Amino acid sequence: MIPFNKPFLTGKETDYITQAVQSGKISGNGMFTQKCHEFFKTKYGFKKCLLTTSCTDALEMCAMLINCGSGDEVIVPSYTFVSSALAFVRQGAKIVFADSQTDSPNIDVSQIEGLITNKTKAIVVVHYAGIAVDMDAVMQLANKHNLIVVEDAAQSIDSYYKGKPLGSIGHLAAFSFHETKNVISGEGGMLAINDERYIKRSEIIWEKGTNRASFFRGEVNKYNWVDTGSSFLPSEVIAAFLYAQLEQLDKIQTRRKQIWNKYHDGLLAQSNSGLFKLPLIPGYATNNAHMFYLVCNSLEERNSLIEHLKKDNIWSVFHYLCLHKSEYYKNQHDGRVLTNADKFEDCLVRLPFYFELTDEQLDKIIQSVISFYK
Ligand SMILES: Cc1ncc(COP(=O)(O)O)c(C=O)c1O
Repeated sequence: MIPFNKPFLTGKETDYITQAVQSGKISGNGMFTQKCHEFFKTKYGFKKCLLTTSCTDALEMCAMLINCGSGDEVIVPSYTFVSSALAFVRQGAKIVFADSQTDSPNIDVSQIEGLITNKTKAIVVVHYAGIAVDMDAVMQLANKHNLIVVEDAAQSIDSYYKGKPLGSIGHLAAFSFHETKNVISGEGGMLAINDERYIKRSEIIWEKGTNRASFFRGEVNKYNWVDTGSSFLPSEVIAAFLYAQLEQLDKIQTRRKQIWNKYHDGLLAQSNSGLFKLPLIPGYATNNAHMFYLVCNSLEERNSLIEHLKKDNIWSVFHYLCLHKSEYYKNQHDGRVLTNADKFEDCLVRLPFYFELTDEQLDKIIQSVISFYK
């Protein structure tokens, strides 16, 4: 069976973990954590970075940092992972779901203004498959209505919008290093802070509501409980793993882009004859080769394609179930039908995507898709 995902190891992970363990400092915010923070700050220009144990944690930190609570509304696309909404719901906010675009799972920016009320506090955007949302339009709306923008950049490492790294444009951004992502640490994530107003408090929230990070820098002579927070920082074992991956980012990205291009070239003719749709990459966005997906014409067709691929020993998967229809939240949704989000829930299928996928395996997958549509 060709699996859907296979975590890639650079070979240095266990060496660095051994170093972390032998250093005698294996709790959080040690040498490897600092190295990861520096890597991201230098390469992408984020003003402040804090590793977290997941992207979910980083999103929860965002919700705490913006003081989101009961009476506040947050605009979130419905076609996304639970955490993009849950992080804000946990703080008491109400989610106002936005639809996707017709030709992309990304949020339909043209609909956002119609969802803004005097209760709206923030807009969460998700760069689906690492392909940028039109951030100039989002930031203009946010400035006009005095809203905070959180980029859910779970899938967006090393991707750009008009030359700007994703995660560097909104006030705050959350990344994931879950084992299905381009760069991994098993579970893992990071908060990027681009608005200086949030920097000081972010460290406190990160360290259980204490000013421990300032204490270790010698800025205060004892540390104390000063705010809300939780234990969001990962141990050095996780940071060591992640650093081994970051060192190989260019190699990982080069191969992933080759894989993406091979899928694209192999399936373009069928897509051009209207059999299915391929991912759309707008002129303002780059492709970080996080995922390769097709959009089929119906739920039945999508499910038959998955079955067909399975018979050929190829594991393909669908993706999100729309959050506005979820068991947990459907009764709080205002009833608007979100046609495009529903379509991507029904019709999108993701093909196997991982560093070690060989050209022979890619040919086999492409041929299997083509034979399904013959
Ligand atoms: C858009 C999006 N946001 C958040 C998450 C949560 O990431 P994590 O598993 O690191 O908490 C995911 C998970 O894949 C995701 O796809």
